[in-house]
Amino acid sequence: MTAAMQARDLRRHYPVGGGMFRPRGLVKAVDGVSFTLDRGKTLAIVGESGSGKSTLARVATLMEPPTEGDLLLDGKPTAEVDAAARRALRLSVQMVFQNPYGSLNPRKTVGSILMEPLVINGRGDRRAREASARAMMDRVGLRQDHFGRYPHMFSGGQRQRIALARALMLNPPVVVADEPVSALDVSIQAQVLNLMMDLQEELGLAYLFISHDLSVVRHIADDVLVLYLGRTAEHAPKPSLFARPRHPYTRALLAATPSVDPSERKHTEVVRGELPSPLNPPPGCAFATRCPHADPRCAAEAPALRPLDGHLVACHHAEAIDA
Ligand SMILES: Nc1ncnc2c1ncn2[C@@H]1O[C@H](COP(=O)(O)OP(=O)(O)OP(=O)(O)O)[C@@H](O)[C@H]1O
Ligand SMILES: [Mg+2]
Repeated sequence: MTAAMQARDLRRHYPVGGGMFRPRGLVKAVDGVSFTLDRGKTLAIVGESGSGKSTLARVATLMEPPTEGDLLLDGKPTAEVDAAARRALRLSVQMVFQNPYGSLNPRKTVGSILMEPLVINGRGDRRAREASARAMMDRVGLRQDHFGRYPHMFSGGQRQRIALARALMLNPPVVVADEPVSALDVSIQAQVLNLMMDLQEELGLAYLFISHDLSVVRHIADDVLVLYLGRTAEHAPKPSLFARPRHPYTRALLAATPSVDPSERKHTEVVRGELPSPLNPPPGCAFATRCPHADPRCAAEAPALRPLDGHLVACHHAEAIDA
């Protein structure tokens, strides 16, 4: 079976600066990320602010081309296709954003927001479009009398249901969700996550689920990729990543994640210091400046991403730390 999405050594670099007294620099927002997202599965991308998550989301949804590397959708490379094929590919990956205030047009009713993708892509007549929109409202738990209402009349959680419904109107096999519940109250987060999981099961959706919060990812992910300064620090199946994190950064993130069960709070490290600038990243391991286990080798030599007990981990000391 072909994967829904595959990333091969994706890079996205931005030239910056170049003012009168400033040299031009290169922000390596995403710098060599690879993964496979299977149909019906969820790959979580986790990392703190500035680690390159949204950049990766823009590349994965074909909003921006990669500077280097390949993105494949359903086994098809997305780079060398003509405009028509590209448009079709773009429709097959839909995006849900963090902020449903910003992403829903305040002047349109829920009904027209949901019908809009169908109108733009010439699907069905007016009556068929309304029927699909109403069916989708049922699916995401909106009431039929919400059809004529405006986004501002809804709570944050309901607005995210509308955003999900809109993303699904064209039956995409893949949804990229960039912090879809981060703006919501914790009690509402669980409802939206449960809805996403129900929809996934019903429709066989694959999710690229982006979050800074491992406790959110714990519910929904099959696999987790931990991003640090545009690179993969660790990539593993979820149960294994939570049970036995191998990278010091993953351990630190987990330690900073509130857990309901105090016995699970066994890691004591916390992430000290700040994310280095992606403009002038340290020469060796990008995490070395904050890592309790760093030694001179870490400062000098960037660790390759390598397999270790079913994980991929980029750390010179993964074995020693674990012992
Ligand atoms: N268009 C751009 N031009 C220059 N730099 C950019 C651009 N987009 C992103 N960056 C830089 O790339 C890095 C990664 O940004 P990105 O928004 O992908 O991070 P993020 O993980 O989504 O962060 P957050 O959790 O805050 O949303 C940051 O240093 C950011 O300043
Ligand atoms: Mg972001």
